Amino acid sequence: MEKSTNIDWGKLGFSYIKTDFRYVSTWKDGKWDEGRLVEDNMLTISEASTALHYGQQCFEGLKAYRTKDGKIQLFRPDANAERMNATCRRLLMPEFPVERFIDAVMQVVKANEAYVPPYGTGATLYIRPFLIGVGHNLGVKPAPEFLFSVFCVPVGPYFKGGLTPVNFIVTDYDRAAPKGTGGVKVGGNYAASLLPHEEAVKKGFADCIYLDPATHKKIEEVGAANFFGITKDNKFVTPISTSILPSITKYSLMHIAKEYMNLEVEERDVYIDNLDEFKEAGACGTAAVITPIGGIQYKDKFHVFYSEKEVGPVTTELYNTLTGIQFGEVPAPEGWIYEIK
Ligand code: PLP
Ligand code: COI
Repeated sequence: MEKSTNIDWGKLGFSYIKTDFRYVSTWKDGKWDEGRLVEDNMLTISEASTALHYGQQCFEGLKAYRTKDGKIQLFRPDANAERMNATCRRLLMPEFPVERFIDAVMQVVKANEAYVPPYGTGATLYIRPFLIGVGHNLGVKPAPEFLFSVFCVPVGPYFKGGLTPVNFIVTDYDRAAPKGTGGVKVGGNYAASLLPHEEAVKKGFADCIYLDPATHKKIEEVGAANFFGITKDNKFVTPISTSILPSITKYSLMHIAKEYMNLEVEERDVYIDNLDEFKEAGACGTAAVITPIGGIQYKDKFHVFYSEKEVGPVTTELYNTLTGIQFGEVPAPEGWIYEIK
């Protein structure tokens, strides 16, 4: 019998609440221990941990979905495991084996089953794996020990309103350097984004858009999400750059656009002074799902895509297909869905 919670699922936003269990595994003397579920949500680590001083840490984000018939499923957890390991290689942290990553996520979801929102509420269980450098260390070098952990939190929409258009403003700040860490999921990228985000919100926008750091001419990211646009001749276009985080949602949408909707797909430069080529645009990511972009403020010009109030038909179909796959209503490509047993 599942434990019950008092959560008002329809009212959830994107904020932390403590759930019952999390997973931890420690790397010491060259290997990961067997890992276990624990109830304590506090960490005790050395004051000299590299994660605290030198940003040697990373995280991932994925979700568990409740289907109509009550099952619970994950969307492409293997891709998150692979991306976390790519981040680990960039930061000289030990990789966590893909199979063990998936198993840890499954254990956490299963142990916190009561927090997986019911089907139809629009809410999901957000899962946050992270891997950090710990142990005593002073010089700028890799940590002597590492901690891998996974916790989960039930969430609603990341941007207020869910599938409702929101507006963004182009920032002058860079979130990443051309050969820096923009293409991996390290916390430092997000620390650097706090100020531009706050400035965008103060000006009345949902978040900011980052241009490419080398030329400031091309769109890179929409806050903590990737950008896509639908051209007037119905192509799905998304920017390409080594400093963009390779979004699992974005690559999934590229597949959906091509295989489910018969659209041409292009991953290429998207110029900020050529927004007229798009009739619709959106931000995509695990947390953002698909957030339609109403308009973009760039310098003194405000460019509206489809509408500031309504969602365009292609964006709507992309959203319905993606979430249909995630919630088990639309047949998924092979290997995308992992059922929690
Ligand atoms: N870009 C950034 C900077 C992000 O933090 C995220 C979220 O993970 C994304 C894009 C979207 O990636 P994904 O679709 O894998 O969640
Ligand atoms: C995600 O979509 O998982 C993200 O990384 C966004 C987040 C930083 C809240």
